[in-house]
Amino acid sequence: MGADLEHVLLTPDQIAERLDAMAAQIDEDYAGRELLLVGVLKGAVMVMADLSRRLHTPVTMDWMAVSSYGSGTKSSGVVRILKDLDTDLLGRDVLVVEDIVDSGLTLSWLVANLRSRKPASVEVAALLRKPESAKVDVDLAYVGFDIPSEFVVGYGLDYAERYRTLPFVGTLAKHVYTS
Ligand code: PRP
Ligand code: MN
Ligand code: MG
Repeated sequence: MGADLEHVLLTPDQIAERLDAMAAQIDEDYAGRELLLVGVLKGAVMVMADLSRRLHTPVTMDWMAVSSYGSGTKSSGVVRILKDLDTDLLGRDVLVVEDIVDSGLTLSWLVANLRSRKPASVEVAALLRKPESAKVDVDLAYVGFDIPSEFVVGYGLDYAERYRTLPFVGTLAKHVYTS
């Protein structure tokens, strides 16, 4: 597993099983409609790839890249758009796809921003949620797992841009981010 990782929190099988269930629920909820999946770069790429391929609902895919104004103001919830959608949201059913909801600040800003573009609906699917870290309440229609407030990496999640390609979600050893 490598000295930088502490333990495996979610195995590839556990992730796959939850994605199966989430996709089935999404198909049921959006029956007869077409969905626009909006992935939040970069963390959401793995969830987007694996969730979207499980859906029978017709979907299109688009991406946004957002960034907080500096690390110190992440808690302010002020977000800057680095890459906007190519798609007009007017009248569309939108499902935001995220890897993790931590404080919830990124997502609460993003959902408000997307709602202002007059879509028919906006919902959120997130693989992971850290309930103990929530600073704002964000309504998540689909959640994979509630996890403790530990530093997790893998399956899209990074530490300093590394570890995103791990097939599992694991906790990072403290020495990696404290040294
Ligand atoms: C991470 C994660 C979520 C966000 C959650 O993204 O992928 O998008 O933080 O944090 P919050 O709930 O406290 O707002 P990050 O900003 O690290 O960018 P990345 O997806 O490119 O890693
Ligand atoms: Mn992200
Ligand atoms: Mg990150």
